[in-house]
Amino acid sequence: MNKFAIKIGDTLLKNPLICGSGEHFIELSGMERALKAGAAAVVIKSTNESDAAKEQLEKTDYALIDSDFNKINWDHNPPRGASLFNRSGLHPLPFDEWLDLAIKADELAKTYDAYAVASLIPADIDNLIHMAKEVEKAGIRILEVNVGAPHGKEAAKGAILLEQEADHIREITEKLRAAVDMPLWIKLAGQSPEVPAMAEAAMKAGADTVTLMGRYMGFIPDIETGEPILGTHAAIGGSWALPLTAHHLVKTRERIGKNYPVMATNGARNGNDIIRFMISGASAVQMTSAIFTGGFEVIEKSLKQIEDYLNEKNMTANDLVGLAADKVKTYAEQQNNKEYWREFTPE
Ligand SMILES: Cc1cc2nc3c(=O)[nH]c(=O)nc-3n(C[C@H](O)[C@H](O)[C@H](O)COP(=O)(O)O)c2cc1C
Repeated sequence: MNKFAIKIGDTLLKNPLICGSGEHFIELSGMERALKAGAAAVVIKSTNESDAAKEQLEKTDYALIDSDFNKINWDHNPPRGASLFNRSGLHPLPFDEWLDLAIKADELAKTYDAYAVASLIPADIDNLIHMAKEVEKAGIRILEVNVGAPHGKEAAKGAILLEQEADHIREITEKLRAAVDMPLWIKLAGQSPEVPAMAEAAMKAGADTVTLMGRYMGFIPDIETGEPILGTHAAIGGSWALPLTAHHLVKTRERIGKNYPVMATNGARNGNDIIRFMISGASAVQMTSAIFTGGFEVIEKSLKQIEDYLNEKNMTANDLVGLAADKVKTYAEQQNNKEYWREFTPE
């Protein structure tokens, strides 16, 4: 096993960098560019059976936002502090054509020793199960099901299911596991203290990994125009989300143990962030906005950063997983540090 390789269940990934699902993976050309740049896996833009979810893609809009909540130029070199604020819909193709694309993408991925991961965002559970079976029958090697897409509450009724109850996650995962034998990744919503419980439910129901965790919904008013930026609520993410995702990674590791591989999403902007997620307990990391806003070269740069770090520390990718997570203390276990706050308390 090479020193960048990571195992997720029975799947061996050549490195821990996975490109998360997004608009840049609607077409094969985007996936090819990511695979060429060295990604271990690319998650294809998600689909479901709902026409409303497809139509919503035509109403998407995106804004890069600075720390003063102003829109900034989209110049493919976003500052590290920029947040991506956007609406999104699902893949525009009908399911059969999407499936043909997924077959081609995974065949192409094989030539790069990588994977193209089929991605479903459920609208209706019976349809989800049907589509999962079709994905397996088509020979695609990995399926991710995102049960926590943040747009669920704002999208047209019935277009996107947003599930945050651990019991429901367990039921859905059990049904999927009974329907398909293929590697199954369950992507969960953020914005809920229930993330570790949801992760445990998916693990016990037979998911090969859980992807933690979806972005947040936000609202940004523009003080010049008095209008909402983009005109609606929308999903928001940025490097500021990294500590929030990492918190749930550590809490999930505490809850379900060290042997279950967990995947991170939401907050990684470069290779060092991937390392941060891994030492917080992630076996692999999905990166989306950084590539969508910064271009495919972000993949190469991030892999180089990870490689340099591993060489310098003489470690393997696997050695990183959970390093910092396993050193976390409770407040009660922390050393007494009274002098510190006296020093900073104003007279
Ligand atoms: C423009 C855009 C489109 C997205 N589309 C999907 C999608 O179709 N399916 C999905 O599971 N996640 C989707 N996501 C979520 C991302 O895959 C990822 O989980 C999230 O953006 C957080 O990671 P990041 O901080 O690396 O962007 C999308 C995100 C963005 C920004």
